[in-house]
Amino acid sequence: MRTGYAFLAALSLSLTQCASANFYLTDKWVGEDFFEGWTWETENDPTHGRVNYVGQAEALMKNLSYADSDTFVMRADDWSIVDPSARGRDSVRISSQSAYDEAIFVLDLAHMPAGCATWPAFWSLSQQGPWPAGGEVDIIEGVNLQGQNQATLHTTPNCTMPPDAQRQPQSGTTLSTDCNTAVDNNSGCGVSFTASGPSYGSAFNMNGGGYYAMVKSRSLGIQVYFWPRDSIIVPPEIRDCGSGGGSLYPDYFSWGLPAANFPMCSGYCDYDEHFNAHQMVFDLTFCGDWAGNTWPGSVCQTVTNDTCVNYVNNNPSSFSEAYWVVNSLRVYTPATSS
Ligand SMILES: *[C@@H]1O[C@H](CO)[C@@H](O)[C@H](O)[C@H]1NC(C)=O
Ligand SMILES: *[C@@H]1O[C@H](CO)[C@@H](O)[C@H](O)[C@H]1NC(C)=O
Ligand SMILES: *[C@@H]1O[C@H](CO)[C@@H](O)[C@H](O)[C@H]1NC(C)=O
Ligand SMILES: *[C@@H]1O[C@H](CO)[C@@H](O)[C@H](O)[C@H]1NC(C)=O
Repeated sequence: MRTGYAFLAALSLSLTQCASANFYLTDKWVGEDFFEGWTWETENDPTHGRVNYVGQAEALMKNLSYADSDTFVMRADDWSIVDPSARGRDSVRISSQSAYDEAIFVLDLAHMPAGCATWPAFWSLSQQGPWPAGGEVDIIEGVNLQGQNQATLHTTPNCTMPPDAQRQPQSGTTLSTDCNTAVDNNSGCGVSFTASGPSYGSAFNMNGGGYYAMVKSRSLGIQVYFWPRDSIIVPPEIRDCGSGGGSLYPDYFSWGLPAANFPMCSGYCDYDEHFNAHQMVFDLTFCGDWAGNTWPGSVCQTVTNDTCVNYVNNNPSSFSEAYWVVNSLRVYTPATSS
């Protein structure tokens, strides 16, 4: 551990972007708290998934959302065959009624949806829009049997990420650098979490989940951090959901490397031009623009020998792992907002 910290210290000295800031606990949801301050959205999935998002009353009645004092669960229907004429498989999409400009979101997650045809995401979105004005930050996202998480920004034109040499440090691997939604079929500027432990899908779940933190700040830029449940270097203020987590001071000394680092660098991306106050969203769709478009030729297609949509319609029990278990979600904001 000592060697690790020395290594991190050396890295932090080489940072040009070394401003830091204190953030204070502003909002916190545990268990039944989620039934207030969040909206169960029922619109047609904008990403064209084979899904039927249900409202809160229906989700409670069908037990697709439930909570006890410690955990909050959102899941898909895993018992019904879906009629081809129906909108899709019942699932849940919720968004926070509050939006936050500069903030840190800390998610303690025990389980995420996993398996063929699934496309879960925990993300943030401009409450002002219209999309993509004000930006989108995908914190947790993936499809099908993907092994590691991907974090991605989606923006209006003229927001790009600098070359890795200027962008470092991050532990993940840059997938693309143009965040403009009009480029490359809206793939965004993404980072794959290559070196930060089991961050996605069934490997994440078997490890008991873990902790995600997303920093969104004018001075720090945007970062996504991940610590697996069993990591020995989870910062105490991230691990502790109680009074110990009253304030956060993100820095590479105590937090280690972010898995994904999206700096707001002059000449590349200007925070105020592309980002504003974001609400948080959890969703779980099936097939659609990503899980469906990458289905042909995938292991899932080979194993199921079916189209993605038919698979979703006809195999309810295959969705028994398609659920979120949230231990807590905390939001921290700076003392003075600019
Ligand atoms: C909801 O589903 C969970 C998980 O299957 C189960 O433990 C719980 O008893 C169910 N609640 C109701 C009211 O059916
Ligand atoms: C973009 O999506 C369309 C429709 O799904 C597809 O035909 C096309 O090949 C995609 N282009 C790229 C560059 O991926
Ligand atoms: C793009 O953004 C940079 C700052 O990041 C700015 O210097 C430049 O003028 C912008 N270009 C356009 C066309 O908006
Ligand atoms: C795959 O499905 C097609 C038709 O749905 C069937 O003809 C074929 O035999 C199946 N292949 C395997 C390996 O099961």
